[in-house]
Amino acid sequence: ALKRSYITKARKHNLRSNGYVQPQASYKVAILGAAGGIGQPLALLIKMSPLVSELNLYDIANVKGVAADLSHCNTPSKVSEFTGTSELADSLKGVNVVVIPAGVPRKPGMTRDDLFNINANIVKTLVEAVADNCPDAFIHIISNPVNSTVPIAAEVLKQKGVYDPKKLFGVTTLDVVRANTFVAQKKNLKLIDVDVPVVGGHAGITILPLLTKTKPSVTFTDEEVQELTVRIQNAGTEVVEAKAGAGSATLSMAYAAARFVESSLRALDGDSDVYECCYVQSDLNDLPFFASRVKLGKNGVEALISSDLQGLTEYEQKALEALKPELKASIEKGLSFLQKQP
Ligand code: NAD
Ligand code: LMR
Repeated sequence: ALKRSYITKARKHNLRSNGYVQPQASYKVAILGAAGGIGQPLALLIKMSPLVSELNLYDIANVKGVAADLSHCNTPSKVSEFTGTSELADSLKGVNVVVIPAGVPRKPGMTRDDLFNINANIVKTLVEAVADNCPDAFIHIISNPVNSTVPIAAEVLKQKGVYDPKKLFGVTTLDVVRANTFVAQKKNLKLIDVDVPVVGGHAGITILPLLTKTKPSVTFTDEEVQELTVRIQNAGTEVVEAKAGAGSATLSMAYAAARFVESSLRALDGDSDVYECCYVQSDLNDLPFFASRVKLGKNGVEALISSDLQGLTEYEQKALEALKPELKASIEKGLSFLQKQP
C-alpha cells in the first residue's frame, strides 16, 4: 500500500495544472548516513522516484549490504555504495541533492539538544565535504538538533566561501506530515486534502503549527487548538518513548524526507508550483533562521511565504513570541560552534 500510494502521488505530479510535465530520471542524490534507521527506508523511497538516475549511499558502516539489497529493485536509478571517510568525496561528485540523516538519535529522557556534542561534529565534517565536492547541491539537514545543525552548516559553508542560503534546508517536513495526519483524524477530513503550515523550528515549543491557516478551511475550539498543538510539538517524543530506547522516528521521517527530496527535484526540474515548509535562513522576523512555507525553484528558495504569519490568533501570536528566545539560543549555539573548535 505504501508503494502504491507513493507512486500515485508521484504520478499525480506528472501532469500538473500549470502544464509542467515531468520527464524521466536525470538527477543524482546522495544520502549521508544511509545505513541508519532513517537512511535505509529513505533510500528505498528515493529508489522509487522517477526523477532520480543515480543514488549514492554513504555511511561509516554497514552500507555495502544496504546498497546490494536495494540495487536489485527494478527501478531506473543506479545505486552505488561508499564506505568510510576515504570514500566520502567520491559519494558527492556531481550530486544535485544531498540528504544528511547521519548522527545519533534520542533515547527517552533526552532533548534534541542533548545530541548537540556528537552530531555537531558529524554535520560539520559532512558539510565540509559537500562544500569541497558539490557546492551547488541542495543540502537537506535531518540530523538533530536541526535548530543548531543548520546554522553550523551555514558557518561551514561560509568558511569555505560557498554558502548559498537558498540551498541550505533544515528538514521540518515531518512536523507538517504529523500536523496533517492529526488534524485530519481530529476533524474527520480526507487526509490527502489537509495542509497545515508549521513554522518556527524543530524542537518542542519551537514547533508552531498554524492551525487556523489549515487548508481546507476548518474551525477549531480553543481546546482542540491546545490539544493538537501540544501533540504536534511532542510527537517526536511520543515515538522516542514508544520505541523505549531503540531510537526515534525513522519510518515517518523517511516518508517526510522523501517528500522533501521529491519536491526539491521537481523544483530543480522546472516545476513552478512547489511549496514546502522548511527551516532556512530567513528575514521574516528577527531570527536569522526560521521555518516557514517557502516557494522552491531551480535555484532553491525562490520566496519566503510571509502570508501565513499574518493575521495570527492571539494564541498563535503568543506561541510565536514564546518560541523566539529558545530558537535564538539554539541558533547562536550553532553559529558559535566553529569558533570554539581547536
Ligand atoms: P541511526 O543511529 O539509526 O542512524 C544514523 C546513521 O548515521 C548510522 O548508520 C551511522 O553509522 C551513521 N553515521 C554516524 N556518523 C556518521 C558519519 N560521520 N558519517 C556518515 N554516517 C554516519 O539514527 P536515525 O534514527 O537514522 O536518526 C539519525 C538522525 O536524524 C538523528 O540525529 C535524529 O535525531 C535525526 N532525526 C531528525 C528528524 C527530523 O525531523 N529532522 C526526525 C527523526 C530523526
Ligand atoms: C522527531 O521529531 O521525530 C525527530 O526530531 C526525532 C526526535 O528526537 O524526536
